[in-house]
Amino acid sequence: MIVLGLESSCDETAASVVRDGREVLSNVVASQDQLHLPYGGVVPEIACRAHLAALLPAVERALADAGVTARDLDAVAVAHKPGLVGALLIALTGAKTIAWLHDLPLIGVNHLHAHVYAAALDRDAPPFPCVSLVASGGHTSLYHSRSAWEHDLMGATLDDAAGEAFDKVAGILNLGYPGGPAIDRAARLGNPKAVRFPRARLDAESLDFSFSGLKTAVLYHCRDRDAIRPGEARSDRETADIAASFQEAVVDVLTDKLLRAARRCAVGTVTIGGGVAANSRLRERIADGARRNGLALVLPPAKYCLDNAAMAAGIGYHLHKAGRVSDLTLDADPTAERRRPA
Ligand code: KG4
Ligand code: ZN
Repeated sequence: MIVLGLESSCDETAASVVRDGREVLSNVVASQDQLHLPYGGVVPEIACRAHLAALLPAVERALADAGVTARDLDAVAVAHKPGLVGALLIALTGAKTIAWLHDLPLIGVNHLHAHVYAAALDRDAPPFPCVSLVASGGHTSLYHSRSAWEHDLMGATLDDAAGEAFDKVAGILNLGYPGGPAIDRAARLGNPKAVRFPRARLDAESLDFSFSGLKTAVLYHCRDRDAIRPGEARSDRETADIAASFQEAVVDVLTDKLLRAARRCAVGTVTIGGGVAANSRLRERIADGARRNGLALVLPPAKYCLDNAAMAAGIGYHLHKAGRVSDLTLDADPTAERRRPA
């Protein structure tokens, strides 16, 4: 079964063709980083206009790269939640149009569940059941993933998402946008023990996250340092130490809670997804933690961690198999799911 996936929930316009939920035949991603760079964050109006211009060329390239035409497609899957509502509407409208025009089933996909599914792409055996961490620019969520499309939310951020914290701290350190890759690079030259930033673990049992206090601690640290040595620019070494110390605090909490969630669900496999899952230190620490705890780990390559449409097409295949097909009334929904009360 050949599924076309579309994605425009934030600042990447993406189209991909995937066979049988795992064989990625094409993966086209048009990034808007350069457009948002001057503003240090995603500007929704700019994102929408850029999606509009990029969507159809991305679809055409995805079909051409896969060596198929629209007639070869069996379904269209689209990320319709959560995200920026105006941005979501672009791929959603494109997907509905293609589905209507070619009489194809339309499959609405949860973008965060698609991030989990990234771990199943290009692999023979899917990793489910497992516990999965999705850490992106807008969300930080822990799931008990019972199947390709059944994900129970176990924990989520109470304030900033992990990627948002990376982006804001990169802004404080003048490292540019997007902040995650910039901090990842800077941190390689720094000492993660140079500054002891707080780890918000919340209460002992909590699987929720909070990163806004950490971001403020970095801001105060920089202010205090500038007050002691006024007019003296921060050296590259100092910046690298702060970046590495901040990153270590984020990675500590993400790693701890993922392993704690795995123990609680008694699953043997853990996975990570979302843009922050491309972070080299997080990948190293989670690999180490999984090994020590006797857990199997699936680390999707960075291209499937960052926003892409292959993950939407992949999970779309399973939703279709489960009969979870949408119709043309499918709407964009900006909100993420909430945890069910215990
Ligand atoms: O999943 P994603 O591509 O888009 C959203 O759904 O938000 O994630 C983007 C986020 C940004 O905050 C970006 O700074 C972060 O992922 N990111 C990273 C790295 N690469 C991207 N964070 C830490 N280390 C990285 N190497
Ligand atoms: Zn994402």
